[in-house]
Formats: sequence, C-alpha cells, structure tokens
Amino acid sequence: MAMFSGGTAARFDLATLAPDFFANPYPFYRALREHAPVKRMPDGSWFLTRYDDILPVYRDPKIFSSDKRKEFGPKYGPSPLLEHHTTSLVFNDPPLHTRVRRLILGALSQRHIAAMEPGLVALVDGLLDAMADKRRVDLIEDFAAAIPIEIIGNLLGVPRPERGPLRGWSLAILGALEPVLTPERAASGNAAVLEMLAYLSDLVRQRRARPGDPDTDVLTRLIDGDAADGERLTENELLHQCIFLLNAGHETTTNLIGNALYTLTLWPSEKARLAANLDDADLVKSAVEEFLRFESSNQLGNRITTQEAVVGGVTLPPDSRITLCIGAANRDPAQFPDPDRLDLTREPNRHLAFAQGIHTCAGMNLARLEARVALSRFLARFPDYALDGEPTRGGRARFRGFLHLPARV
Ligand code: HEM
Repeated sequence: MAMFSGGTAARFDLATLAPDFFANPYPFYRALREHAPVKRMPDGSWFLTRYDDILPVYRDPKIFSSDKRKEFGPKYGPSPLLEHHTTSLVFNDPPLHTRVRRLILGALSQRHIAAMEPGLVALVDGLLDAMADKRRVDLIEDFAAAIPIEIIGNLLGVPRPERGPLRGWSLAILGALEPVLTPERAASGNAAVLEMLAYLSDLVRQRRARPGDPDTDVLTRLIDGDAADGERLTENELLHQCIFLLNAGHETTTNLIGNALYTLTLWPSEKARLAANLDDADLVKSAVEEFLRFESSNQLGNRITTQEAVVGGVTLPPDSRITLCIGAANRDPAQFPDPDRLDLTREPNRHLAFAQGIHTCAGMNLARLEARVALSRFLARFPDYALDGEPTRGGRARFRGFLHLPARV
C-alpha cells in the first residue's frame, strides 16, 4: 500500500480530492488516521479521522459549536442558502436548537414510528411489484429513492401529488454543502431554497387554517410551538426547519438503502446469510447498523471551536473550523476490529453514522425502520438480484451514495 502512505496524508485536501477518492475514500482515510489524524488543510481548517478524537468533539457542544454563521457568511454571501443553513436546527447551538429539537422529537417517538410500519410495508411491496414486472431496474430510482420521500412527506403532511419536486430540491440544497462550492452548485442550491420557501409558505398557510393532529403531524407541532413556555418559532424559522427536515430525512436514507444493496453484491456470503435468515429480527437490525457503519451515507460533520481546545494532542485556537470524518471514524481499527470487513453481526458496533451528543440524528429510528423494512422485503422477494451495468455515484464527499444502480431482479 505504498500509494496510500504519509504522502497521501500530507497531500490530502478536501478542496482538491483525487478522482479515485469518490470510488473508495477509505484508503485515504486510513492514511490520514495513521499519519495525520489531526490534519491541517491548506485553507486552515482541520480534518479529524480518529474515532477517539471525533467522539469528544461531538460530546462537547460548548467548545465545539455547530453555529455556522462565521463559516457560511463568507462561503455563501448574503443569499437564501446562507439564511437557510444558519437558521436550521442542525447548524445552531442552544437555545434555538433545544426549542426546535424538542418540537420535532415529540412527533418521532417510538410509538409513532412503529405506527408508520404498516404503511411503509405497503409502500415497499408496491415498489417491489412494479420492479418484478420490469426485471431490469434502477435500485435507486425504482426503489431506494422512492421510500423516504413518502415517509418524510407523510411526516410533514405534504399532499402526495405535490411531492414530485422534493428530491431535486433536496439534492440541490445539500449539494451546496460540499467542501467545494462551484457557481453551479450555489445557483441551484439558492434556487431550490427559494422554491421550497414559496411552496412551504403556502402549505403552512393551509395548515394554519386546518391544523393536523399535533401528536403525529410535525408541521402542526412546529406551528403550535412549545405549549410549556408559550414560545413559537417565527415564520421564517418555521419554514427553514421544514426545509431542513425534508432534506435530512431524504437523501441520507435513500443512500443507506442504496449503499446497502450495492455493498451486499460485493459480499456474497453475507448477502446469502441475510437472505436466508430474514425472520431473525436481531440479524436484520444488526445488519442495518453495519451498513450504517460500513458505508455511512453522511460522511462528514463540522464544528467550530469557541475557545482554545486540545484535540488528539494538538492545540487548536478559537474559531478553528473542524471537519469530523464520520466515514473514517467508522473504519477505525482501534474501535472496530477488521474494520474493512462487512460483518452483519458485528458487536459492539458503536458507529457514528448518526453523530453523537445534542445533535444526534433526530430521525435515526425512522431511518432504521425504513432500512429494515426495505432491505428485508427486497431480499425476500429478490434474493438473487445482481448489478447489471455501470453504477453512477453521486460524486459527493459529504453525502455518499449512488444516483443510479442498474440491476436485474
Ligand atoms: C440513514 C439516514 C440518516 C443519516 C445517516 C443521518 C445522519 C445525521 C447526522 C450525522 C446528523 C448530525 C449532524 C451534525 O450535528 O453534525 C443528523 C442530524 C439530524 N437528522 Fe439525520 N440522518 C438520517 C436520517 C434522518 C431522518 C429520516 C430524519 C427525519 C425524519 C433526520 C432528521 C435529522 C434532524 C432533525 C437532525 C438535526 C438534529 C439536531 O441538530 O439536533 N435524519 N442526521
């Protein structure tokens, strides 16, 4: 592995990634973990790859802030993207973060998530029927991408005929979070924020007139605000949280399902083991955790230091921008023995795919349910599926997944 050595680590720069990085970033991550685990990049930011360095950063939100104003101000300039990303809960610290998170979590209790299962099963089975008729399919378009859009659409009560543009908007807005913001990415991201704001302000107006069940309807909960302290979100805050939710629950889950189906084709014995034991609920659960670890759909997180801080033995000054490489932490041999092996019964498996600490993914149990239902029903129906044609990768460093995955079922 001379190719991936100290030199690879020394040259690593998120702003100029090698073309083969997108096909397989893990050798690059390994070189960094071994030779430059707290890597200073040419733009002055820091890139972390060791599990034991990343975990404490997630766990200390006072020193490692999620507030993106200092970073995104210069990156986006005054723009819809800047307003969106600096308003959504994920890129804020308490108190705004705490208020919004409480409202969202209330509609994502285990009970509510479990109640979604029958609808999800029906949806998945309908997609499987349609694929059986076609035989040659795209595992992303015909399957993985079709599931989260319905689930998240239901969560916010977006009428079914109006869901068409959601995926494109989401891809455009999240695409603008890539380490390199090209003018095209900025333009399509900004246009998508404006279109979503216009669409959602209409939806909010209708929901104010006819509220949904605040127990299960996230939009009604966000509109009503917190009954305990009487605090409400401003109209603008409200719309941006909705945009964020529609995006957060969407491409990530599509990629979890797509990456899992792709990965299984590379590990035939694990595929056969899972397909033969689909009635083993524990196996299906731990398989989903392993897919989350092995090909994390969200590979990068970010924080900024509010004061001087020591990370992995290196002293970082205040206002240091940090990228947390979830994809690297999840392949760290110090935490996961034989990390490049897919082991569907890996135990323990304390992966960081959903991050950690106060910003831990609010939708993780929903994502897990979607993946369990989608993968187990798919394998029961098509245990001999095989790739058929060149897959098209999304080509992104942050959100890892495929745009197209041609297959025979
Ligand atoms: C496989 C699927 C998913 C992955 C890998 C994923 C990953 C993540 C990660 C890593 C974060 C933390 C970001 C940070 O603080 O740096 C996060 C936050 C979040 N996710 Fe997910 N997510 C997934 C699915 C979902 C779904 C289905 C929903 C909604 C229903 C959702 C809603 C959220 C929300 C609201 C936050 C912000 C939480 C906060 O800031 O307190 N996610 N997600």
